[in-house]
Amino acid sequence: MTTMAAQLRQALAESVKSPDWHDALQAVPRADFLGDAVYRHDPDRGWVPTHRTEMSPEEWLTLAYTDETWVTQIDGVMAEDAIEPVTILRPTSSSTQPSLVVRMLEAAGIREDQTVLEIGTGTGYSTALMSHRLGEDAVTSIEYDPVIATRAKRAINGAGYAPTLIEGDGLDGYEGGAPYDRLIATCAVRTIPLPWLRQVKEEGTITAPMLGWLGGVAFAHLRVSMDGTASGRFLADDVYFMPARAHAAPPRPTLWMGVGEVSRSELDPAILKDDTALFVAQLAIPQAHHGWAEDTLTLHDVSSGSQADISPSPGGGWVVHQHGPHRLWDMVEEVIFTWMGAGKPHQSGFGLSVTAEGQRVWLGDPDGPSWRLPT
Ligand SMILES: C[S@@+](CC[C@H](N)C(=O)[O-])C[C@H]1O[C@@H](n2cnc3c(N)ncnc32)[C@H](O)[C@@H]1O
Repeated sequence: MTTMAAQLRQALAESVKSPDWHDALQAVPRADFLGDAVYRHDPDRGWVPTHRTEMSPEEWLTLAYTDETWVTQIDGVMAEDAIEPVTILRPTSSSTQPSLVVRMLEAAGIREDQTVLEIGTGTGYSTALMSHRLGEDAVTSIEYDPVIATRAKRAINGAGYAPTLIEGDGLDGYEGGAPYDRLIATCAVRTIPLPWLRQVKEEGTITAPMLGWLGGVAFAHLRVSMDGTASGRFLADDVYFMPARAHAAPPRPTLWMGVGEVSRSELDPAILKDDTALFVAQLAIPQAHHGWAEDTLTLHDVSSGSQADISPSPGGGWVVHQHGPHRLWDMVEEVIFTWMGAGKPHQSGFGLSVTAEGQRVWLGDPDGPSWRLPT
C-alpha cells in the first residue's frame, strides 16, 4: 500500500507540471489530510458523504490522489458525521484541487527565501506543501473553524511539519509573524481586509480570490506600497474558492416578481451568464443577489430592498420591472455598456486599489472609470 501511495503521489506531482512544487507534491501524503470521509457531488442526489470504510484501501488512495477538490465540510457538518446526502447547503471546507493550489502558489510568486501567511488552512494540505518547500518556520496559516483547525494540525504535524498554526479569523491576519513577504487566501473575500495591508512587507504581495454577493469573481494580486496602500491588476487565471466566513452573501430577501415601474430594455439579461459580465454588473450593484426563473433574471439588493426582474417581451426586447429605492437593471445596463465600450475585457483588464479610505476597482488603469467596493 505504501508503494501504491508513493506511485500515486509521483503521478500527481508529474501531472501538475510545476518544477518548483514537484518535490513538495511528491512528498506530502494528501490521503492523510482528508480524514475518513469526503462529500462527492452527484447531480441527482446532491452532496453525498463517502466514507473511507465504504471503499477498498486502493480505491480510497486513488480518490485522495485524484487532482480534484474534495469537500470535507458542508454548512459546518464534517463528511465523517454526515449520514445522508445534502442538497441546498454549501461547502464550508475542502481540500482544494492540488493543481489549483499550485496555480495559486505560483501566482503569488512564492519562493524559498520568503515568509508566507495563509488564510484558510482547511485540511492543511497547502500548508504542508509550503512547509516542505519553504521550511516550516516560514509558514503561518490561520483557520476559522476549530474542528478543522485541530484536524489540520494533526495531519500537518503527522506528516512531519510544524508551521505556525492559528485558530481564528483570518480576516484579522496574524500580527505575531508579521511582516510577511506573501499573503495568500484559499477562501474568497468580498473586499481586502485592511489588517492584511499592515502585515505585509513593502513590495510584498497579497494574492486572494474575490467573490461578491452577485456571484462575480476576480483573482486579486496586489503589491503593497511604502505608504501602506495596495494595488494591482486582477490575474488572468479564473479561480473559484468558497467564500471566507463573514464575507459570504446573506440570505435572499423575499422576491416580488412583476412589481414596480415597467420599462423596456434592449440588453439581453443572459449576458450575465458570462463570468466577466457578472463581475462587471456586481461593480454597480455589489449588495445584490441574482437568480434565474427560466428566462427571467431577478436581482435583489439586500441593503435597500430594491428588486428588478427582466424577462423576454413577446414583441422582442425585454420587459423590466424595477421596485424600491434603486433601479437595479438601469445600474447594470450602464456599467455593462461602459464595459462593452472598452471592448469587453476580461477581469484582468481591471485592477483594484486599496487604501484605508476605501477600495476601488478600475477599468484599464487606476485613472480609468472606477467603482467603489462596499466597506
Ligand atoms: C478551500 S478551504 C482551504 C483549503 C486548504 N488550503 C487545503 O489545501 O486543504 C477554505 C478554508 O478557509 C476557511 N475559512 C473561511 N473563512 C475563514 C476566515 N475568515 N478565516 C480563516 N479561515 C477561513 C474555511 O473554514 C476552509 O477551511
